Amino acid sequence: MTDFKVPFIDLPQRFVEEREELLACVERVLAKGHLVMTPEVAEFEQKVVEFTGAKHCVSCGNGTDGLMLALWALGIGKGDEVITTPISFVASTGSIAHVGATPVYADVRDDQNIDPAEIEKKITPRTKAIMPVHWGGRVADMTAILDIAKRHNLKVIEDSAQSMGAYYHDRHGGTFGDAGTISMHPLKNLNAIGDGGMLLTNDDEIARKTRLYRNHGLQDRDTCVMYGVNSRLDSLNAEVLKFRLTRLGEVISRRRHNVAIYQDMIRAKQVHIPPVKPHEVHSYVMFIVQAENRDELKAHLERRGVQSLVYYGTPLHLHPAAKKLGYERGDFPVAERQAARVLALPHHQHLSETQIAQAANAVNEFYGA
Ligand SMILES: Cc1ncc(COP(=O)(O)O)c(C=O)c1O
Repeated sequence: MTDFKVPFIDLPQRFVEEREELLACVERVLAKGHLVMTPEVAEFEQKVVEFTGAKHCVSCGNGTDGLMLALWALGIGKGDEVITTPISFVASTGSIAHVGATPVYADVRDDQNIDPAEIEKKITPRTKAIMPVHWGGRVADMTAILDIAKRHNLKVIEDSAQSMGAYYHDRHGGTFGDAGTISMHPLKNLNAIGDGGMLLTNDDEIARKTRLYRNHGLQDRDTCVMYGVNSRLDSLNAEVLKFRLTRLGEVISRRRHNVAIYQDMIRAKQVHIPPVKPHEVHSYVMFIVQAENRDELKAHLERRGVQSLVYYGTPLHLHPAAKKLGYERGDFPVAERQAARVLALPHHQHLSETQIAQAANAVNEFYGA
């Protein structure tokens, strides 16, 4: 593996910063000897409720399960269509397909989030829900999306996997729709030591059903009221996440500071950084730019010791798995153009100003800016 001067992410450094607290979490939980569905899990969920303003938080095994739990709880399945975006991680579409429903795409805007005007064109009598994705940590245009949902009587499931700490008009991502789901994968701002996820909802019934589904449909040890799955956040992660939630604000502000430095330093006109609007608070899980000659830029950065990653080079409708959905190249021009241009620059809270300067200078150098 190449040793980058400016690595994309630096999880070992996070351990250096938090070593004492993390080991104390491990010790506390292991000493008790109970590792699943213990009070730590409910305590973490309560802290998330306080942080996000959602009425309920139901933790689960990962963000993908969160999406499936939401779809199940809303009764979405075979014969139903769910409108979503071609710009996301495969889990958004995958969850819809897995419950037996059909993913229907709508193109995105310049900021890579689903375009409400395109959603409207995709509604059919089979449409049951809209699943916007708050891509990179920027909340989609929820005012317009909720308005469409209301007029057409549709459910809204926010794939807010990347939006812990992101706000839209002062409201936390994942708290607008019927349900919102969050991933605590190691690359997220609030990250587990492994996988983790959660569902936010203001609806008591969705919360009740989700709690049952995530634990085999067991109402108590001896009574199964519906068949569910095993998708529980383990107690060790709940304890770690409880601690990390207290640091989330600092993590995001360090990331925001780093993005501001990047924005000051990148002069090349060939690099487009979609502006953050006044009513948006970006959680900066990723710092994605849209660049001309993206692949050559990436190779140049690598030669300069700067690691960058493409998120993602293939929009979801053009994956082999999407073949039976019947889409073709050209169906979503904005998403397709972005897929050819997007590049995520190294971006984490441990970057030094020198490292950011190395990355930004290498970008400018490539374009002769
Ligand atoms: C937009 C989006 N949706 C869903 C997921 C799935 O989350 P998880 O990896 O926790 O299952 C991710 C994870 O990266 C994501 O970025």
